[in-house]
Amino acid sequence: MPNSWLAVPLPEYEQHMSSMEVQQLGALSDLFAEAIRYCRPYSIAVLGIAGGNGLDHVDSSITARVVGLDVNPLYLEAVRQRYSHLPGLELYCVDLFEQHVDLEPVQLVHAALIFEHAGVDRCLENAISMIVPGGLLSIVLQLPTESGQTVGTSQFSSIQNLKSHFSLISPSWLRESLAGRGFQLIHQTTRALPAGKGFWTGIFSAPAAHHRK
Ligand SMILES: C[S@@+](CC[C@H](N)C(=O)[O-])C[C@H]1O[C@@H](n2cnc3c(N)ncnc32)[C@H](O)[C@@H]1O
Repeated sequence: MPNSWLAVPLPEYEQHMSSMEVQQLGALSDLFAEAIRYCRPYSIAVLGIAGGNGLDHVDSSITARVVGLDVNPLYLEAVRQRYSHLPGLELYCVDLFEQHVDLEPVQLVHAALIFEHAGVDRCLENAISMIVPGGLLSIVLQLPTESGQTVGTSQFSSIQNLKSHFSLISPSWLRESLAGRGFQLIHQTTRALPAGKGFWTGIFSAPAAHHRK
């Protein structure tokens, strides 16, 4: 079955994410900015880069290589057009749920709202495999709401169709799972969003030598 994200036009996704009821696009951009301010990475990979949200914050005097991965080739084309001025931009169309990624690793892997859509099996392995030994992993997860709502109500049917493949990931499960692999949590925050939603962010340092498949 084709990935539901292939049926979501980028303008519909961005309009939904920046709507008054959702307000996640700006929040995700801020969290990316915080992660790069905290980590000052010389190279970054963004998993599920969408339209390049937050790339404006990259300081190319610090970060010389920016790798973006996404399943939707039209999103990557938009990133290419919007950020062609960014030095060291590399874009790859991959399904992180299914494919094994084999790229030159980076100092910081940023994974915001991707595990909810692509799962924590192959996608988490891919995230880990892309980090240099002793590098960093920043993760943004959506927190549960009292109402149990996951994907916000949208006027776009393409967005509504994403619900069936969306699963919340528990930050405590993730912390334990990464601790078991020698990753150390060095920073975490939570941020409230409209409709009782919220984001949890964790930044982890990778062990000096970690298992890469
Ligand atoms: C909620 S958006 C991510 C938001 C973005 N990281 C940000 O900070 O603004 C999810 C992104 O992941 C991509 N995606 C979903 N499933 C994927 C998969 N299996 N492999 C690669 N990308 C995927 C979607 O196309 C979409 O661009």
